[in-house]
Amino acid sequence: MKNVFYFVIMLLCVLSSCTSKTEVASPNSNIKWSLILDDKGAMTYQVTVNNQPFILPSALGFEEKSGLNLKDGFQVVNTTFDSQDETWTQPWGENKSIRSHYNEMAVNLKNGEGVKLTVRVRVFDDGLGFRYEYDTPADSLLLMDEYTSFNIAEDGTSWSIPAEFNTYELLYRTMPLSEMPDANTPMTFKTQSGIYASIHEAALTDFPEMCLKNVGGTSLKSWLAAWPDKVKARFDGGKFQTAWRSVQIADKAVGLINSGLILNLNEPCVLEGDLNWIRPMKYVGVWWGMHLGIESWVINDRHGATTENTKKYIDFAAANNIEGVLVEGWNQGWETWGRPGEYVPFDFTKPFADFDIDELARYAKEKGVELLGHHETGADIPNYEAQLDRAYQWTKEKGINHVKTGYAGGIPGGHYRHSQYAVRHYRKVVQTAAEHKITINAHEPIKDTGIRRTYPNMMSREGARGMEWNAWSEGNPPEHYELLPFTRLLSGPMDYTPGTFDILLENSKNHPNRIPWNGNDKGNSRVNTTLAKQMANWVVIYSPVQMASDLIEHYEGHPAFQFFRDFDADCDWSEALQGEPGEFIAVVRKAKDNYYLGATTNKEARTLEIPLTFLEEGKKYQARIYADGEDAHWETNPTSYRIEEKSVTNTDTLTVVMAEGGGQAVSFLPIQ
Ligand code: NOJ
Ligand code: CA
Repeated sequence: MKNVFYFVIMLLCVLSSCTSKTEVASPNSNIKWSLILDDKGAMTYQVTVNNQPFILPSALGFEEKSGLNLKDGFQVVNTTFDSQDETWTQPWGENKSIRSHYNEMAVNLKNGEGVKLTVRVRVFDDGLGFRYEYDTPADSLLLMDEYTSFNIAEDGTSWSIPAEFNTYELLYRTMPLSEMPDANTPMTFKTQSGIYASIHEAALTDFPEMCLKNVGGTSLKSWLAAWPDKVKARFDGGKFQTAWRSVQIADKAVGLINSGLILNLNEPCVLEGDLNWIRPMKYVGVWWGMHLGIESWVINDRHGATTENTKKYIDFAAANNIEGVLVEGWNQGWETWGRPGEYVPFDFTKPFADFDIDELARYAKEKGVELLGHHETGADIPNYEAQLDRAYQWTKEKGINHVKTGYAGGIPGGHYRHSQYAVRHYRKVVQTAAEHKITINAHEPIKDTGIRRTYPNMMSREGARGMEWNAWSEGNPPEHYELLPFTRLLSGPMDYTPGTFDILLENSKNHPNRIPWNGNDKGNSRVNTTLAKQMANWVVIYSPVQMASDLIEHYEGHPAFQFFRDFDADCDWSEALQGEPGEFIAVVRKAKDNYYLGATTNKEARTLEIPLTFLEEGKKYQARIYADGEDAHWETNPTSYRIEEKSVTNTDTLTVVMAEGGGQAVSFLPIQ
């Protein structure tokens, strides 16, 4: 009786306040998105999945500083519908070819203040995106708040990092959605009914990043990174367009990984002509030694980026089927960085005296290896922008096609790294680099929102706790690697830099040159995985520029390094086969005729049965299996591993046995 009473009340409310409702469904009709206007012309939207409420009516709109009404008083002018079903290709990616299949609805609205608004929605079988396109009579706009909300219909388990506008290098939390105070995106959750979903954004081009704030129960609201004067977004004219607010939806956790939604919501490639200067690659680097504290970024007797040391890395790369060598600490600026009063800004065209760039460019070319540039900006964005054009021209002249950037430190003027100011900078970097045919790997970046589709020279980025944390903190916990694929990696590639073989950092801890350089170093640093899991991460943690992070002396003569020699970063196709957030993951990637499998587990030992149906029918493959040793354990015996070789076909099933905190990497090479 009570239920009937509530139903009647609800019906009356809906009938009295809902003046119009327009709806669009996914091609398979499972997901439906509707816009509802109440009698005051205020907008809400709702989402159903399999005809069940998934997002309950949730607010839309913005607050503008002058009081211009961007929120209500709206009426629908007209609604247009469109659809697309096409397959597009990209020069690199987890999948080089992606199907984009959606139904679109554009609701054109206007209010009494002359504000025109199009709410554009695209609904795919694997989720949806909606964005605002405002056209107002104002000469300029100062947005103070975004009302967009996500009132999730039921509670569930969430996986996320906290909302933070300066860093993503934070530990993941697993908690009930209703207890999650806030989150950055991608914020992934599983409802009590078993639906997996992830809220994120796509095509962030000229807007602050969106975090989520819990405003009660399972109601989340957009929380934008602000400028120092508290304005969230500013525009010179009266028009603006937001990034897409996206929700991936799947019935299995791996469905989120196998979705192309974020890329599909981005614009097609704008780079013209031959794009063969954009090349995936494997690399090693003069890098880990500095994080371990046994080498220095600064010119002194511990300097890492010397001509001699770089040549050793070039030789190693040439001998091990590795295309690139990264060198950090090669340019002037490092010696005064972080010293108030003495700081002479980084100069990206002035090498240190012991780094002979011309000789190294010649030597690398002779050996068929590429040097990778490094621009640590110290977050001094004005200094970097002033040099950008000249620096990229100089870099290109030295035969360098790829630059890793870094933004450690605070941006002058107190800007957040994820603010609209910074988003504009990161975009300018990508565009300027493209003009010089340079590819980018950004550290301390803005989060990935799929712009690599539009600018495929934006290849990789950090944007989560990477390998470096294992050198100078308590390290990333074992389950970090089973959380990344279902959260951060949904947004795009990550330059995690896997592959440390000296798991306990024994060789460096006792090194005579060691000076711990980071305040987080409590002497308990180590890598919290087994060796086999380090190898599996080369497959699982997708990056088109994939690093083998360790000092090369730890690879020399090591039988397990054969996996990286055989590995190909230029993959054509991928599939996440099995997995649950924070528990385990198994991914396969195909590159040319070879396949690579990576599987990892959290602190629990686990055995997966993996049918090899992905292999080409009728072909025989040599499976080289790099597995945890029988007595391996991430904490007590992390370096125990075994290598097994066997011939397999696509009718076989592989039993993948993983130790606590372990994993397995397998290469499948066709037998001629
Ligand atoms: C932080 C980056 O993540 C790391 O890879 C780099 O070595 C340092 N900054 C120094 O630039
Ligand atoms: Ca970093």
